[in-house]
Amino acid sequence: MGTHFPMTRPINDTLLRALLRQPTDTTPVWIMRQAGRYLPEYNQTRARAGSFLALCRNPNLATEVTLQPLARFPLDAAILFSDILVLPDAMGLGLYFVEGEGPKFERPLREEWEIRDLSAPDPDNHLRYVLDAVAQIRRALDNQVPLIGFSGSPFTLACYMIEGEASRDFRWVKSMLYGRPDLLHRILEVNTQAVTRYLRAQIESGAQAIMLFDTWGGILSSPAYREFSLAYMQRVLQELPREWDGHIVPRIVFTKGGGLWLEAIADCGCDAVGVDWTVELDSAKQRIGHRVALQGNLDPGVLLSNPDTVVREVARTLAAFGPGHGHVFNLGHGITQWTPPENVAALVSAVHRESRRYHNPG
Ligand code: CP3
Repeated sequence: MGTHFPMTRPINDTLLRALLRQPTDTTPVWIMRQAGRYLPEYNQTRARAGSFLALCRNPNLATEVTLQPLARFPLDAAILFSDILVLPDAMGLGLYFVEGEGPKFERPLREEWEIRDLSAPDPDNHLRYVLDAVAQIRRALDNQVPLIGFSGSPFTLACYMIEGEASRDFRWVKSMLYGRPDLLHRILEVNTQAVTRYLRAQIESGAQAIMLFDTWGGILSSPAYREFSLAYMQRVLQELPREWDGHIVPRIVFTKGGGLWLEAIADCGCDAVGVDWTVELDSAKQRIGHRVALQGNLDPGVLLSNPDTVVREVARTLAAFGPGHGHVFNLGHGITQWTPPENVAALVSAVHRESRRYHNPG
């Protein structure tokens, strides 16, 4: 068979095993935004690239920064270095970053004709640089640890596409949701097709697990969450291949602020549910741990303290999940740029050391 990658599992496959609730000796750990501004070597590479977007668009440099946190810490996974907003950028919205203000779009969706004109991009063409980065990162990893691919959820992408930037009140999204739900559904239809094609292309290029980031699902009412966010993530997962190259491709769904809806999320076709720090892992495990794995959930703020405190909070988080498999250690949201790297070193070694006791049989 002329497959691109050998049908081997990574040497360290604890992440893939934990996501499928299979036995492991330790709890695997990776960190949302593990490649980023808290690392001086990241800031250097970004300066060489010229900007964050130039870094995302250069597969060599994207590979370099993807590997940087793995060179420092014995993490159990790599995550593609990119951004969720490169997908709407490929849809023609014109992504740019203003220093200190975060992402913005030149052409947010405001007019009905703009929404009617929207269409899902062909990733092989418009997102070639991401797929090239995925393939190159896989080669560079040489099966040491698995590579996670990702996308924003259809709803979270729609939030940025409609608001044109990060928002506090989501004024445009909410007025469309209640005033013209047909238009929001139209955007979500297109996004669902776009996300599905994009994730499938990442899998075909070498991503071994995938994650949906639903950063803004938590701003919705319970019925609106089901209708405008969860239903579309479920459709994405239905359409994705379950296996690639002879291996299951596990799926993680993370709705920030989704603690109220864990049962519904666990039913959407995912293998693992990401939880933020407002949820207790013992109760989350009781509610959905018999069906899916859990990923999380240390408050990123803990990493602003000191190594002793980090170790204590890691031990507390592991104890909350307790004995048994199916826990992937992570933060409850992305690491902040103010994190001292030595606190990350303390976190990773504490997870590996302190988690052994929970995996011993008997
Ligand atoms: O986890 C990783 O290491 C992979 C890389 C990754 C980035 N963004 C790199 C990045 C991932 C998975 C994302 C996802 C992402 N991007 C999300 C979903 C997860 C979340 O955090 O809720 C969202 C909402 C975005 C949109 C986005 N991109 C924002 C709001 C910002 C600004 C954040 C800030 O702190 O200023 C970005 C920029 C961004 N994406 C950076 C990085 C490393 C910092 C950019 C820089 O170097 O200047």
